[in-house]
Amino acid sequence: MRKRVAMVMGGARGIGFASCRRLAKDCDGIAIVDINGDRAEQAAKRLQEETGTKVVGFAADAGQREEVVRVRREIKEALGAPSILVNCAAIVDDKLFLESTPEDWDRILHVCLYGTMHTLHEFLPDMVTAGYGRVVCLASDSAKGGQARLSYYAAAKGAVLALTKSIAQELGRSGVTLNIVSPGATNTEMRQGREAQMKASIGDEKYERRVKAVLKAYPLGRLGESDDIAAAVHFLTSDDASWITGQVLSVNGGWSMA
Ligand SMILES: NC(=O)c1ccc[n+]([C@@H]2O[C@H](COP(=O)([O-])OP(=O)(O)OC[C@H]3O[C@@H](n4cnc5c(N)ncnc54)[C@H](O)[C@@H]3O)[C@@H](O)[C@H]2O)c1
Repeated sequence: MRKRVAMVMGGARGIGFASCRRLAKDCDGIAIVDINGDRAEQAAKRLQEETGTKVVGFAADAGQREEVVRVRREIKEALGAPSILVNCAAIVDDKLFLESTPEDWDRILHVCLYGTMHTLHEFLPDMVTAGYGRVVCLASDSAKGGQARLSYYAAAKGAVLALTKSIAQELGRSGVTLNIVSPGATNTEMRQGREAQMKASIGDEKYERRVKAVLKAYPLGRLGESDDIAAAVHFLTSDDASWITGQVLSVNGGWSMA
């Protein structure tokens, strides 16, 4: 049987870590890569103790090509070449477009778009050589319908959609599938950070009204949890999803049905 090694970029917490936890059930090795190396190592130790699967933590900034090249080499030495790749690394801002600066755009694109691009560029060739690969990139439903106060993050995620679908067309014949999971509002530290930024910017009263309005917009009556998203990631890496490629799976409690 094929050895299953998964690598999760941005896997030290939130949706990435929940995905590692799901993948650990049916993988032989998990590489948790994160810009925060200490957090990646701690998360790896915790998950290995919990599951018995070999889990190793690595430090790398997805936006720096040479760091992604280096971490690919380290993962291959420690675990073997990954056949499963999950791109979770991202950062977000809460800002109106007219207040955004070129530096804001650079900072977000560096991680959300170039980070995804570098990771795909470095990890796909081994999958093509092996004739097998499963890739899931995390986008956001803000990219599908647009979202106020998230313009440049949504733009970066829209580019991730187009990039992933294009590569899915190029690599289908190589046995590599690439799909996108597009979450709605999910209760993670990223979201909590953005909410705090927004509260400071619009004030307590307006923010409380917004919290109620957001919840009302979710037909299933609650926000997502990391494991809701990880379940979809796990499915798309499984053999049950072997005839699915280039698709966008929204996991969003019904927030948008487009
Ligand atoms: N939480 C939400 O509401 C939500 C909604 C839509 C989409 N998403 C997407 O889901 C994915 C996971 O989000 P999350 O909420 O779990 O976020 P999170 O902030 O909890 O986790 C992201 C992880 O990525 C790491 N990271 C950041 N920059 C990095 C870099 N340059 N290189 C390597 N690692 C880096 C962080 O250290 C962190 O561990 C992201 O792609 C995000 O855009 C989240």
